[in-house]
Amino acid sequence: MKNVLIVSGHTDLQHNSFANKIIMEDLERLLPQASFDYLDRLYPDYKIDVAAEQKKLVAADVIVLQFPIFWYSMPSLLAKWMEDVFEHGFSHGSSGKALTGKKLLLSFTSGSPADTYAKGAPQLYSVETMTTRFQQAANLCHMKYEGFVYTGGVSYSNRADKAKLAAMADAAHAHATRLAKKIQSL
Ligand SMILES: Cc1cc2nc3c(=O)[nH]c(=O)nc-3n(C[C@H](O)[C@H](O)[C@H](O)COP(=O)(O)O)c2cc1C
Repeated sequence: MKNVLIVSGHTDLQHNSFANKIIMEDLERLLPQASFDYLDRLYPDYKIDVAAEQKKLVAADVIVLQFPIFWYSMPSLLAKWMEDVFEHGFSHGSSGKALTGKKLLLSFTSGSPADTYAKGAPQLYSVETMTTRFQQAANLCHMKYEGFVYTGGVSYSNRADKAKLAAMADAAHAHATRLAKKIQSL
């Protein structure tokens, strides 16, 4: 049985998330054997317990990063986690082999709809361009990059509209189902 670690990188999943909260709740139900790492609960002060986080990574075969897109990238808390935990000598460098062979899967949401992420569209570039840093990191750390599960159009502005809120809930549940299937296939 493979060990799955799902890292939630939302900066405030408890109080200021709609989509990621649903996705994480669904995943807890769909993948009861997985380990769940809620960075906002563990590190509201951004003081990451590096040894504890490295231990979780070492125990995992599949590492899933779950996050909302903030400024075309990952949220600050997840970036801080990565900067602190993926240390030279641990994940990379001549003696850093702790993550070798582990699978890295991304799962993220954006406020702007999926079709706005294209050449000539409002967001100018494809969704894939926001994932290249992770592919490069996986390569540097001898991990296998497994791609991403993505949902767009889950925005703050939709939260005030009942029908749009219901559509976002459906999209988040569907995201979790797709993600769980993908994880199970790895
Ligand atoms: C600080 C901040 C930056 C954001 N940057 C982007 C962005 O660059 N592109 C985008 O499509 N949405 C952006 N959004 C919208 C979020 O991606 C969206 O609210 C999130 O995916 C919804 O998930 P949630 O309901 O779990 O918070 C941003 C939101 C915040 C708060």
